[in-house]
Amino acid sequence: MKIQNGTIWKDTEGNVLHAHGGHILKHEGVYYWYGEDRRDNLYVSCYASEDLVNWSLRRHVLRTDSPVRETRVRADLHLVHEDGSKVNIERPKVLYNEKTGKFVMWMHYENGRDYRCAAAAVATCDTPDGDFVYHGSFNPYGEMSRDCTLFRDGEKAYFLSASRDNADMHMYLLQEDWLNVERFTANFWQGEYREAPAVVKRGDLYYILSSFCTGWAPNQGKYAAARCLEQGFGFQREIGDETTYHSQPAFILKLEGTEETSYIYVGDRWNGKDYFDSRYVWFPLEFGEDGSVRMIPCDELEIDAETGRVRAL
Ligand code: DGJ
Repeated sequence: MKIQNGTIWKDTEGNVLHAHGGHILKHEGVYYWYGEDRRDNLYVSCYASEDLVNWSLRRHVLRTDSPVRETRVRADLHLVHEDGSKVNIERPKVLYNEKTGKFVMWMHYENGRDYRCAAAAVATCDTPDGDFVYHGSFNPYGEMSRDCTLFRDGEKAYFLSASRDNADMHMYLLQEDWLNVERFTANFWQGEYREAPAVVKRGDLYYILSSFCTGWAPNQGKYAAARCLEQGFGFQREIGDETTYHSQPAFILKLEGTEETSYIYVGDRWNGKDYFDSRYVWFPLEFGEDGSVRMIPCDELEIDAETGRVRAL
């Protein structure tokens, strides 16, 4: 099965696939791709696939009229303004919490008018593709929180987001139901202005990819590796070219097949003039024994979701 990078991708019904800034979660043999859907009254859509190539729309899982329920966290529960205008939801990420039986979504929240809220928002659902219940937005420990990601490490889950007007990256351990932050674990990359964090673990090492901060325009990607996640990440090395092959990280897909485990960089190729014309690129990542990472740019990617084999064509 092949995907064509940088082209318009359609779902199995022939409609344009809207899942930017997103995340893929595998649950009971099915891959669920959540991502931004900025059309009409929509915020996040969920697509499902068994082969990672053919995606069927399951549901618009977060919308202006989504159910809203307060949790113990004091939060702003508005998903729409009084005049009907939308807020802004970016970079939704979803993990499954076995202890609570909930699919938990974290995302970046803004008021839709500017980027001053710099907040994190949370929603949950009993099924991977049901109507998510919105639990509101807040600033963790009062901090700014913009481009974000979730990372699961065993039973623990972490939320990472760009803070101090994007100058630094913050990392928080989540409470055991993953509905609130428990501890501010690290503040790293002081003044480096990194966005679009994406974390993966391979062997004993944790890796993070990120972009620089240039709006919708692509820039030089960087990565860093760490042995101890809770201390955050340090020195960064460049990955890809000066535009990360014209893309920005959304997440890293760890594909664990029957024969191989592959790591796929999933990037957004934004169109800053026309958001809806933005595209996707999926590139293999290659890891060196010295902790280095290489991105393999390609026009086409062959994926065998069963064996885990991927090949750049
Ligand atoms: C870069 C971020 O990574 C995107 O998610 C989006 O917020 C744009 N900036 C907006 O300019």
